[in-house]
Amino acid sequence: MAKTILITGGAGFIGSNFIRYVLQHSDDIVVNLDALTYAGNLENLNDVENNPRYKFVHGKIENKELVRHVCKQFRVNGIINFAAESHVDRSIMDAQPFVDTNISGTLSLMNVARELSMEKFVQVSTDEVYGSLGEQGEFTEDSPLAPNSPYSAAKSAADGFVRSFVHTYDFPAIITRCSNNYGGYQFPEKLIPLMILNALESKNLPVYGDGKNVRDWIEVSDHSAAVWLAYNHGKTGEIYNIGADSERQNIDVVRAILKLTGQNEDLITFVKDRPGHDRRYAINSAKIRNELGWKPLINFENGLEQTVRWYKDNADWCSRVRSGEYLKYYHNQYDFR
Ligand code: NAD
Ligand code: DAU
Repeated sequence: MAKTILITGGAGFIGSNFIRYVLQHSDDIVVNLDALTYAGNLENLNDVENNPRYKFVHGKIENKELVRHVCKQFRVNGIINFAAESHVDRSIMDAQPFVDTNISGTLSLMNVARELSMEKFVQVSTDEVYGSLGEQGEFTEDSPLAPNSPYSAAKSAADGFVRSFVHTYDFPAIITRCSNNYGGYQFPEKLIPLMILNALESKNLPVYGDGKNVRDWIEVSDHSAAVWLAYNHGKTGEIYNIGADSERQNIDVVRAILKLTGQNEDLITFVKDRPGHDRRYAINSAKIRNELGWKPLINFENGLEQTVRWYKDNADWCSRVRSGEYLKYYHNQYDFR
């Protein structure tokens, strides 16, 4: 029987990809609760906005009364929490919104889910909670948590609350921890879209430090497939790492983007390093592969090529995001609280 799922943060990069994935791969009804911060853009969901199985609610996850009202109104069976302040550099400037959304917001969602005896709660977490690796080794689900940025500290605190709810109240939660995502609709403050757009506009590409920090890349639809599997078949109380075994140094990613956009390496500009910059992430995803049968379908080179093409083909989306026009339009239209 079709279920109703509350997906939070669905107007963001990964949440919008996930909503599209769920509507395509199930008969379930999706309620998208999103505050439409600078990172939320309903244009990311233009193609599903008239789908009768899709509803949008404008609001904050930390507003417990609103969350309770929405969950009762739509008879929500479970929650998948993508909503977050997600950018490390912004967390270094001001950690408070990260505490409000990533910690208090998660707590508010779990309190309502518990009150209404929901059947499942998935917390979409990140590999950054494990901290930074040296040249060798990988993060497993048993690696100690060692967050290094205000962003990852807030995500890690939320994971702690999820764990405590499972342990204390037998709360039916699962945590997923994925590595760096890339793909269409990603806000151009993150490495890959920023570098693509700057390259397309022949602007400088600001590489932090020596450019040798390593990230482990996964195409966003592979992440969506993994979260959906975890929601439907994951075991309560478990953590699942998600990753596609695609470690790359930042400088190599930037060079690949320059090649794909037909630009010269002169555009690379080494700039002051991010404070506390984690050196290397690498995720071991054997557990979700072995226990739930997930595997990534898109290799990094093909995925990056597709992504560059997406940004070239969606110049209107890019210019509305770059100019800030997307914020004015949707805030006026949907601000009904
Ligand atoms: P994003 O910044 O693109 O989107 C976040 C969304 O959450 C936006 O639509 C925003 O409006 C919404 N939001 C923010 N605060 C809110 C609040 N208080 N109430 C309701 N909605 C709110 O983020 P993303 O990159 O799509 O990441 C989604 C989730 O996945 C986050 O939880 C992030 O920690 C996690 N994650 C991201 C990556 C990555 O590489 N981007 C990797 C692993 C995990
Ligand atoms: O690992 C998962 C995480 O990946 C998610 O939890 C976060 O939400 C997501 O933002 C991402 O965090 P990172 O800090 O790894 O992503 P970002 O795109 O900001 O940076 C990737 C790498 O590129 C990092 O080493 C910093 C570097 N960088 C980034 C920017 C924006 C640059 O060199 N120049 C830049 O201008």
